[in-house]
Amino acid sequence: MRTPIVAGNWKMNGSQSSIAELLGGLKSDLRVAGPQVLVCAPYPYLAQVADLLQGTSIQWGAQNASQFASGAYTGEVSLPMLKEFGCSSVILGHSERRAIFGETDEQIAEKFVAALEAGVTPILCMGETLQQREAGQTQQVVSQQLMAVVEKAGIQAFSRAVLAYEPVWAIGTGLTATPEQAQEVHQALRATLAEQDESVAQSLRILYGGSVKADNAQELFACADIDGGLIGGASLKAEEFIAICQAAE
Ligand code: PGA
Repeated sequence: MRTPIVAGNWKMNGSQSSIAELLGGLKSDLRVAGPQVLVCAPYPYLAQVADLLQGTSIQWGAQNASQFASGAYTGEVSLPMLKEFGCSSVILGHSERRAIFGETDEQIAEKFVAALEAGVTPILCMGETLQQREAGQTQQVVSQQLMAVVEKAGIQAFSRAVLAYEPVWAIGTGLTATPEQAQEVHQALRATLAEQDESVAQSLRILYGGSVKADNAQELFACADIDGGLIGGASLKAEEFIAICQAAE
């Protein structure tokens, strides 16, 4: 039995007041026992989020981190720093980081290792563009993104990690993968890892992300290899996010 995870990816959104309102809403109305619930906030608000979530079962994480532990890396934030504040998880390799900030598979693999060394759970994202899907390259693309990290970190590292399959064409577009499309990729990712270690593959949580909403979450989460969601836009509204968490019960 894999415990589902519903993780909010706030991206570069929010203000002190909107975050207070959002977390206030979650704290008063979120009543779920099953899934692990997590919110990933922009760096300046992490301390506020940590403070507001104290004593609740909601965990918090970051959306990126440096592969380096400390030193002359202007503008970067390290995983040991995040850990010092109680950060539980970090999103790595999101398609926006890959496409807009040019992150490579190699850098993402280094960040993944750094997260595990710091004791922060990496949520490793992968996904194909529309062009790649239409060219029939989906499996090849996601498996390459996955294997770059397996080669660097080793299969056993995945017993302490989470994966997120996020088709690029579904992110922020309102176009969601159908449950069948998502399940097919999730199953293939798990099978790829199972070739190296069956038990690691079976216990790994694989989240789906890409326009998950309250009204499509249930059918996605019902799929055998979908263990919850990474939620962007819909995680910014308490009511919507709570409904998605309930769908993962
Ligand atoms: P979306 O974003 O739910 O707004 O599509 C998901 C993500 O980018 O993690």
